[in-house]
Amino acid sequence: MSFTVFEQAPARLNRSELAVPGSSPRFLEKAAQGDADVVFLDLEDAVAPDEKEKARQNIIQALNDLDWSGKTVSMRINGLDTHYMYRDLVEVLEGAPDKLDLIMIPKVGTAADVYTVDCIVSQIETATKAKKRIGLEMIIETALGMANIHEIAAASKRNESLHFGVADYAASTKAATVGIGGPNPNYGVLTDPAEDGSRDYHWGDMWHYAIARMVVAARAHGLRPLDGPFGNIKDPDGYTAQARRAMVLGCEGKWAIHPSQVELANAIFTPTEKDIAQARAILDAMEQANKEGRGAVTLDGKLIDIASIKQAQVLVNKAEQIAGK
Ligand code: GLV
Ligand code: MG
Repeated sequence: MSFTVFEQAPARLNRSELAVPGSSPRFLEKAAQGDADVVFLDLEDAVAPDEKEKARQNIIQALNDLDWSGKTVSMRINGLDTHYMYRDLVEVLEGAPDKLDLIMIPKVGTAADVYTVDCIVSQIETATKAKKRIGLEMIIETALGMANIHEIAAASKRNESLHFGVADYAASTKAATVGIGGPNPNYGVLTDPAEDGSRDYHWGDMWHYAIARMVVAARAHGLRPLDGPFGNIKDPDGYTAQARRAMVLGCEGKWAIHPSQVELANAIFTPTEKDIAQARAILDAMEQANKEGRGAVTLDGKLIDIASIKQAQVLVNKAEQIAGK
């Protein structure tokens, strides 16, 4: 029903989400000291099969010994189609109780995948008398996951965010890609000839549909949508352009696969001073109109609708969250 109200995921700051391989104690230490809003400790693709067990131990140690305050800490488990996944959950959640905030599930294909993880996490939380309730992040990175995205988004009350895993998604859909998460020169529009016969070629954004679909599914269910990796760590301008596209479509933040990308994401997903001032002016105008018993709210001679007021409130809340970090 259209008046069904979905609870909003806890309001966590999620402008940047740094991926850190669990196999590297040095990188784990650096991540704890860095500026990422969310850090995900990776047991999946950044860790070779014969390093999985050691990586779990490194993560347990890092969670217990390092200071993660001021950050949200997540752990990417292995996929449900591997034999690592259940031990990832059992070993780390029992070895470092009440330390993780989130579990990230890769290659989610169906709502039942989310249910499976929810079930195991619930059992461990009960058995360990956990005080913290773990949230779930789902990577949408297969054709099946993208097809079932709405059911996945609604699959658990623990759900907090959806992530676009562009690398695996390209592999799954057999898309022709050049670099991870960037544009492809073959995806463009050739304009009709101008009077002098010249034609322009405009590169397009081949990920537009996937990201827009994810944003809709996430927002409809009160979750945060996040753009995934950008592979070329030597191209900050390319990263920035992709992050801006994601931001414009409604994403809350973007992954950083290298610490140098954290600062870029934090800057792009932080509202500008001008936007904050405008949002505050809208809220002040609304308050003034309420006091005076006026129904219509105007600012600088323009009528302000309810949608603008809601957006202004979201923006001001986020600015306060950032200021309080
Ligand atoms: C992330 O996991 C990706 O495949 O892009
Ligand atoms: Mg992946």
